[in-house]
Parts: sequence; C-alpha cells; structure tokens
Amino acid sequence: MDSRVGVVGAGYVGLTSAACLARLGRTVTCVDNDRAKIDRLRDGEVALVEPGLAELVAEGIAERRLRFTTDVAALTDVEIVLLCLPTPMGPGGVADLGAFDTVLADLGRVLRSGSVVVTKSTVPIGTARRVPALLGRSDLPVVSNPEFLREGHAVADFLRPDRVVIGADAGQRAAAERVAALYAATRAPVLHTDPATAEVTKYASNAFLAVKASYANVLADLCERVGADVTQVTRAMGFDDRIGPDFLAAGPGWGGSCLPKDAGALLWAAEAAGVDFALVRDAVKINTRQQSMVVRKVRCAVTGSAAGSLVGARIGVLGLAFKAGTGDLRASPAVAVVQALARQGALIRAHDPGISAADRIALDAGSGVRVMDDPYSVADDAMALVVLTEWPQFRDLDWPLLAAATAQPVVVDTRNLLDEVILAEAGFRHIGIGTRG
Ligand code: UGA
Repeated sequence: MDSRVGVVGAGYVGLTSAACLARLGRTVTCVDNDRAKIDRLRDGEVALVEPGLAELVAEGIAERRLRFTTDVAALTDVEIVLLCLPTPMGPGGVADLGAFDTVLADLGRVLRSGSVVVTKSTVPIGTARRVPALLGRSDLPVVSNPEFLREGHAVADFLRPDRVVIGADAGQRAAAERVAALYAATRAPVLHTDPATAEVTKYASNAFLAVKASYANVLADLCERVGADVTQVTRAMGFDDRIGPDFLAAGPGWGGSCLPKDAGALLWAAEAAGVDFALVRDAVKINTRQQSMVVRKVRCAVTGSAAGSLVGARIGVLGLAFKAGTGDLRASPAVAVVQALARQGALIRAHDPGISAADRIALDAGSGVRVMDDPYSVADDAMALVVLTEWPQFRDLDWPLLAAATAQPVVVDTRNLLDEVILAEAGFRHIGIGTRG
C-alpha cells in the first residue's frame, strides 16, 4: 500500500496529525502557506506548547518521514490529504471558510486521481458535500474525519484516541477504509458513518462538554446558596458511569479556541435547520454570567461589598490561559475576568507560566494589566489574589510568603485548586467556587 500522506495546515491539529502519522510509519508532507513557520519547522523548531510534539517532529525529520513545504504541488502523489485549516468564527457565528475554499481550489489542480480528501479540522455541517465542487473535481473521494484533540494532550489524544469517526458516502467505502487504516496501530474503535453525521458528531461532542461544564457552574451557585460543596457533589455524581467524573469542575467558565466557537456553530446550524437548541444557548449564557459572577466575587473579596469600588485596588492574578498546560489566551475566561476588573479601575498584576512573549506584550499594552514573570511579585500590596487557571504548580507556591506580601490575605480560588488547610495555616481567607469558603 502506498503510504504517502499530505497534511494541509501546520497549526496544532495539522502539525500533530503530521508528526503522529509519521510516527505511525507514514511518509508525510505538511504544507502551510506561512513561509517563516515552514522554515522553522524544517529546522525542527516547534512554536506550539504541546507535550511530545517537538520530539516527534524531530524524529520524523531525522527519519525522513516528515517534510515541510509551502508548495501545495508537493502533494501531487499523496494517497490521502488531510485538511487541517483554521475555520474561525465569522460574523453571526458562521464559520469563515475563506482559507479552506482557496486551498481546495489549489488542491483540485494538483492531486492525482483517486487521492482521498479528508476534512479533519472542524468544519460546518455540510462542508464535505461541498468539497467536490470546491475542488472542481469528481474523481477525488471525500471523507470527514473530525479531530478530538485537546490542547496540551494533542499527541497522546492522536496516538491513543477514544474513537475514530469516519464519515463517507456509501459509494466511498474503499476510501473510508484507507483513512481508517491510518489509525490501525492505535487500536481505537472506528465508527463508520456518513459525512454529515461525522460533522454533527464533532460539534455535538464539544457542545455537550460545554453544557456539562455550565451545569457544574450553576450547581456551584446553588451549592453556595444552600451551604453545600459542589466539589463533593460532582465527585459523588461522577461515580455513576452514566454521568462520569470528567468535565464537571466548576470554574470561571469554559473557553479556548474550540468550545465557544463550536457551541456557537451548533446553535447557528440548529437555527438554520429550524431547531431550537435552548439547552446549548443556555449553556453559552451561563458561561457569560459565570464570568460576571467571578468579577462580583472578587469585588466582594476586595471591598467587602458587591457594590464596592475597585478603583485603585491592587489585585494579584495567578493564571491567564483558558486552561492549564497551555499558553493559549484565546477566548480565555481568565482574560475576560482580568479585563473586566481592570475596566472597573483595579490595578492588575498577573502571572501565567505558559504565556507567550507576544501575548504578554499585547496584554500589557492593551488592558492595563501588568504581566509578571515571577508569581510572587503579583502579591505585593494586593487586596486579593485570584486563581483563574488551574496550573498545578500554584498549589505548591510558598503561601506564607505570599500572605506576607499582600495588603489583605484573601484568595479567590476560581478553580477550587488550592489546599484549604495550607491556605488557612498561611493566614489566608480562601474563597472557592460553589464551596463553603
Ligand atoms: C476541546 C475538546 O475537549 C476536544 O475534544 C476537542 O478536540 C477540541 O476542543 C477541539 O475541538 O479541537 P480544548 O479546547 O483543548 O479541547 O479544551 P478542553 O480541555 O475541552 O477545555 C475547554 C474549557 O473548558 C477550558 O476553558 C476548561 O478550563 C473548561 N473546563 C473543562 C471547565 O470549565 N470545567 C471542566 O470540568 C473541564
């Protein structure tokens, strides 16, 4: 069997797919139109913070199974080409398919007859059906194979997936099998279906996770009001196999480049189809409300009252990324909360162990938030510390030292991350989310 694979797009989905397929024994050509990025990748430089990825890229290059180019024509002989292009949310929640459409027109000019075109990054429902027209060809089978990679776990998720979903029309079974063969070594369950079902599965999975997390956040509100502890409630719920323990952590809200975009896209698709998906709409509303709730909680902690003024109050923030293990600030609830506090006049010093130099400069310049290298320096004269991202290393900070630096030893722990006993011993008042603190 010919084992040559093309990957278009060297973002986190594309690069992970390319490097992992090379590890699984394929010869992979990865194309991206960003010349500087391709030059760096050829030298083995990986800008993404993704455990194991740089090592796999280096291995693929050294073993000559992975190469990088800006030239789509290099894909002329591939057996399969995976489309891993960004489809950002455009106006009104509709995905922007500009990059996608352009690449398909280019591919239509270079691919050999019979090459399988696979949509891998998230695309609107119905995209696979549009692909032949965009390619301008009908001799290239089209398969939808959505990715379920989590940032920070992308390599592990690719090499050990929970499931592989392959959507192809009935007449394209052979093409679907060729795509399934890419994953044979992972031994993951393979679910064969039609393209639209595969596309819906992707959105449905992310939107369901959003609903689950919003459920936990409303539950947290209830727990606070009735004197219960949401961490214990969700732990007990999670023992039920039908519910499961994951994605039930209350927090400052869900974010990142996928969940908000995909929940919005599912809503848009539902509306266009005449379906009122109120459950997902409410999950989105709850998410926005959750961020306001956190801002209110911080205001109460700092001033002692929900109506108190934050003008001139120093607040120390631990965590800006949308979740731990990544430096990604896109649609981060932490950034939304910090910016809201800054708008209300608070003087914010924030630390995040994963933040990039570029994001740091953008935040420093745009929002009056000072980003610090040292987690301890955020505490100086702070009226409260606020934990917004669940980086595990925050647990092990020297909390007595932090307490000594603050003007008021109060910590608002929006991830229920910290050890309450250690905090109490250090002299901190600990305020969690949905807990009795
Ligand atoms: C998400 C999905 O989990 C992946 O399966 C999917 O492939 C990916 O989107 C995608 O579409 O590409 P990711 O964006 O990396 O992955 O982030 P998650 O780990 O899902 O976390 C999303 C947000 O939910 C974060 O802000 C996180 O803090 C929040 N969250 C997570 C909660 O608020 N509570 C939880 O219990 C879990």
